[in-house]
Amino acid sequence: MGKIAAMSVTVSTEGRVTGGRVVCVLRAVMETGVSTYAHLAHSGGTVAMNCNCENNAACDPVNDSCICAEGQSGEFCQIVSIPDKNQVAVVVYVLASVIPTIAIIGCIVTGILVKQRPRPDHPAVDLELVSLMEAFSSWEVEKEDIRFEHLIGEGEFGHVVRGRLRVPEGYEVLVAAKSIRPDRMTVSAVRDFRREMTILTRIYEDKDGHPNIVKLYGVVTESEPKYILVEYASHEELRRYLWSLREQRKTTGNGKLLERLGFTCDVANGLSELARLKIVHRDIAARNVVISDRKVAKIADFGLSRDVYLSSAYKRTDRGGKEELLPLKWMALESLRDGVYTCESDVWSYGVLLWEIASFGEEPRYAGGPMHPDVCTLLELLRKGVRLEQPENCPKSVYRIIRSCWIVDPSKRPTPDELLQKIDQMRPQRQAAILADSIR
Ligand SMILES: Nc1ncnc2c1ncn2[C@@H]1O[C@H](COP(=O)(O)OP(=O)(O)O)[C@@H](O)[C@H]1O
Ligand SMILES: [Mg+2]
Repeated sequence: MGKIAAMSVTVSTEGRVTGGRVVCVLRAVMETGVSTYAHLAHSGGTVAMNCNCENNAACDPVNDSCICAEGQSGEFCQIVSIPDKNQVAVVVYVLASVIPTIAIIGCIVTGILVKQRPRPDHPAVDLELVSLMEAFSSWEVEKEDIRFEHLIGEGEFGHVVRGRLRVPEGYEVLVAAKSIRPDRMTVSAVRDFRREMTILTRIYEDKDGHPNIVKLYGVVTESEPKYILVEYASHEELRRYLWSLREQRKTTGNGKLLERLGFTCDVANGLSELARLKIVHRDIAARNVVISDRKVAKIADFGLSRDVYLSSAYKRTDRGGKEELLPLKWMALESLRDGVYTCESDVWSYGVLLWEIASFGEEPRYAGGPMHPDVCTLLELLRKGVRLEQPENCPKSVYRIIRSCWIVDPSKRPTPDELLQKIDQMRPQRQAAILADSIR
């Protein structure tokens, strides 16, 4: 017995799984037999060394022959007689009653396992999707209530389509329906998608939401593909909107400064709400802000975008063993260096967003660095104090606010509320008009 236990320990320390354990038990039984034989021989006295009796038969001390017990025969008592008919009947009866029971239990267990078994192609993805379905039932929308229209955006994993959703009140609203591209269905994509749902439902759980965060209308999780349905913003992505303003400016000379300052206030307002809810966006950028038909800026893209982006804005890293796509040029120094993300690091990204707004949607580029620096190059530049330069025609007062978002010590950066206040001070018509004059 001691030997079996010792062998079991050996197996577990070797870290072998069931197969190894089974092999080990067989070996243990064989060795136990050997040791039992030796044990019996020792207890039988000194002459037992000359007997080779089997089946625990005793040894005759006079002539070294084996004294067979009842039912044993042969020179070494190696033959054991077959049990009588009654015994056979008992064995047959026991087997006949036990085997069907085992078979029924086996069928039930197999049935349950087969039902729960994830599809072999993406087992982990399926488990993620199952838990996703369970968590959002109160936001579930019938797919029949959506009329899908055209594609409005597609990333590496995400797919956004415009649609019309019939709401319980009976009328239709325009929605942006976001799903995961079927060919990019990975565990991390599903996780990010789920995170986006979770965050949006958190923002909308106790009230009507916030005017500067895209409104959640519902989710589709009970059929494929799964969707997140948010309000459709008719002017779509801020970055593209800024490009169109740049084009307009070339012909009209009007840079729409007031409108652009309005967007910066809107996003600061949205950020303030996120800070209140202790939500870190991690991807504040002009590509993730959308503009409504009333020209209100709204923060969008909570979660999926981190692994989604096609362009070089995001970089793969292998921090913590998990490969991620990260928006390097929008990231705070501490996020690049330590992988730390906070409301303060969102403020750093907001500074880059302000820079994008001031430069009519330019791609950020650090002086003395390549267009797409790697983490080390970027860290070195930032450590040396290099920052994005003042955009052409950007008022000094605006650039000062931008720079304050890029202070190395996160606690010294302005809060979203302070930013809102500072920008708002520039908004009174007269001052805006003066500024507008100076940048035309
Ligand atoms: N609510 C919306 N209204 C209008 N367009 C949207 C909306 N949400 C997303 N889009 C468009 O789809 C694009 C991709 O959406 P986003 O949520 O950023 O997904 P991804 O995770 O792929 O970056 C956006 O850049 C924008 O052009
Ligand atoms: Mg995005």
